[in-house]
Amino acid sequence: MKLESIRREYKLAELSKKNVDKVPIKLFQQWMEEALNLEMPDATSVALITNGTDGFPQSRIVLLKSYSGNGFVFFSNYNSQKGKAIAADPKVGLHFFWPELERQVRISGYAEKISYSESEHYFHSRPFNSQVAAAISDQSYEVPSRKFLEDKFETLKNELNESNPECPKHWGGYLIRPVKFEFWQGRENRLHDRIVYEKENENWNIKRLAP
Ligand SMILES: Cc1cc2nc3c(=O)[nH]c(=O)nc-3n(C[C@H](O)[C@H](O)[C@H](O)COP(=O)(O)O)c2cc1C
Repeated sequence: MKLESIRREYKLAELSKKNVDKVPIKLFQQWMEEALNLEMPDATSVALITNGTDGFPQSRIVLLKSYSGNGFVFFSNYNSQKGKAIAADPKVGLHFFWPELERQVRISGYAEKISYSESEHYFHSRPFNSQVAAAISDQSYEVPSRKFLEDKFETLKNELNESNPECPKHWGGYLIRPVKFEFWQGRENRLHDRIVYEKENENWNIKRLAP
C-alpha cells in the first residue's frame, strides 16, 4: 500500500480563541477527560522531549500520573538518559496525541523532581512486581542479557520474601511546570485550529496560529 495515498479529513470538533478557557489547564482537563471517556488505550501516554547532552533532542513515551494547575507529573529513574538530560537542562516538552479525537497538545515547561515522600507514596501504590522491576533496573544502562535482568528480579524477589522493596532514592516523580501550551484540533481541508497559550508573569496570552 502506498503511504502517500493514506489521508483522512478531520471534522470532529473546532477550537476558537473566543470560546476557550482563559487558563490552559482547564482546556487540557476537558480534552484529557474526553480522551479517558472514550477508553482509548494509553490515553495518558505522552512523549517527553528532552535536550540530550549530545545536542540531539530525545523523545520517549511516559505515562502521565497526575496534573493540576502546578503542572504535569510522571515517574522515572533519575539516573536514566532522560534523568541526566533533565539534570543538565530542565527545559522539556510534552506531546500528547489523541487520534480518535483528532487532537494533539504540545507543552513546554521546566521539569523538577517531586519530594521523596511523594515518590515513595506512589512507588508503593504500584503492583509488587513493578516495584521490584523498578528497584533492579538501572534504566538506560547496557545489560549483558535478558537473563541478567530476570536473575536480578528473581534474586530481589526472594530476598524480599513478599515484603515491599524500598523506593530507590534514584527513582521518583518529575513535575513539569508549563510555560506554553499549544492545542491542535484537526479541521476540514487541512485548515486546522491551533490555539497557543504563553505564560507572561502569572497571565496566559492566547493566540491563534496558522495551520
Ligand atoms: C506506553 C509506554 C509507557 C511508558 N511509561 C514510562 C514511564 O512512565 N516512565 C518511564 O521511565 N518510562 C516509561 N516508558 C519507557 C520509556 O519510553 C523509555 O524507554 C525509558 O524511560 C528510557 O528512556 P531514556 O533512556 O530516554 O531515559 C514507557 C514506554 C511506553 C511505550
